[in-house]
Amino acid sequence: MRYQRPKGTADILPGTSETWQFVEATARDLFARYRFGEIRTPMFENYEVFSRTSGDTSDIVTKEMYDFKDKGDRHLSLRPEGTAGVVRAFVENKLYGPETTKPYKVYYMGPMFRYERPQSGRQREFHQIGVEAFGSDAPELDVEVIALGMNLLTKLGLKHLRLALNTLGDKASRDAYRQALIDFLEPHFDELSEDSQVRLHKNPLRVLDSKDAHDQEIVADAPSILDYLTPEAQEHFTKVKASLDALGIAYDVDATMVRGLDYYNHTIFEIMADSPALGEGYTTVLAGGRYNGLVEELGGPEMPGVGFGMGVERLVILMQAEKIALPDDNALDVYIVGIGDETSLETLKLVQAIRQAGLTADRDYLGRKPKAQFKTANRLDATYTLTIGDQELADQTANLKNMATGEQISVPLADIYQDFQKVVTDGFTAK
Ligand code: HAM
Repeated sequence: MRYQRPKGTADILPGTSETWQFVEATARDLFARYRFGEIRTPMFENYEVFSRTSGDTSDIVTKEMYDFKDKGDRHLSLRPEGTAGVVRAFVENKLYGPETTKPYKVYYMGPMFRYERPQSGRQREFHQIGVEAFGSDAPELDVEVIALGMNLLTKLGLKHLRLALNTLGDKASRDAYRQALIDFLEPHFDELSEDSQVRLHKNPLRVLDSKDAHDQEIVADAPSILDYLTPEAQEHFTKVKASLDALGIAYDVDATMVRGLDYYNHTIFEIMADSPALGEGYTTVLAGGRYNGLVEELGGPEMPGVGFGMGVERLVILMQAEKIALPDDNALDVYIVGIGDETSLETLKLVQAIRQAGLTADRDYLGRKPKAQFKTANRLDATYTLTIGDQELADQTANLKNMATGEQISVPLADIYQDFQKVVTDGFTAK
């Protein structure tokens, strides 16, 4: 039997995991500057946490949930996205109370699960880095979240990004728009795809997001949400746009954008990249919006929220396609070459001592001949080699060689054990 990873999952190996670490470290650093704290919530939740929030006509709930009954007959689901679990935790831990400063700002990173058709940048287990901010209605906070997303992607070296922006308005705006959409779509009912026919009365906005080509032709002439906004919703959107302008962040208003989750209102946005690595046209790397009402939906008080989720796989594919250079922080400082079996114990002690001194070090474990060990040191691009043979062992010394200059010095083992950093600085710079 040959074991293979499940369809739609990936092994992230050294060589690629460095990119992931760089992305995560950059994100943590930036989130700290924006004063978001890290939250870690479970990888699975009660099924209702997702079914109540994502929307019962969404693809996520109807087709993509990894749900199951556990041995105690509880209906659980692996998380398809991060927001619902964070909102559940926000409510359960009463973070809405006066003890926390508002907006209450958190970030998370980790795996999410959706039963989707795998393709480049689309997996069944994928990873998101996301942020959520609770407790303020201010359009400026929507813009802070968008600016943070943009800031993160540009800091990671991505160019050619497009910010698509829309509003879904408040409940009154959406109710009015919903009716207008139904009125527009009903005469086309027979031409719509099966999915869209089901969704027409339950959630007509979903039809705008249909992947079906003929549905897309029909909705091209559909009325625009922007014509149905209440004055308050219009004002919110106007302020979001003005704040983006003030920060010099370019955007395209895309009135047909609806997003795949039902919890949004007011501002929604997607940051897209145009790269052949992710297939034809623009692909969304980072997306989010405002979700006033979601905290209440999960049993909390009325408390607005706004956030985004970024797809790490998509981001990493883009970074690799654009050949974005990473800082090389895992260089090998010292490779220890032991000549003869007798030296093995000493090289083991040396490699440990050098690591304790804060440098990176490695040695041979395959009984290679000295020549092969030097070859390995070269291949690993070691800054120094430290060689010890029978004679050095007897003299309690070792030979330290600077691989770039070829310069060599003999060093007492005692000095190495005492302060290896000093050996290097004194040995090669004092002359
Ligand atoms: P989403 O648009 O469903 O939003 O996902 C956000 C991002 O996750 C997508 O833009 C994409 O980059 C990535 N993504 C989604 N599905 C997959 C997949 N199957 N494979 C690889 N990457 C994927 C959310 O999940 C919301 N929770 C975002 C949010 C946070 N809104 C407010 N706060």
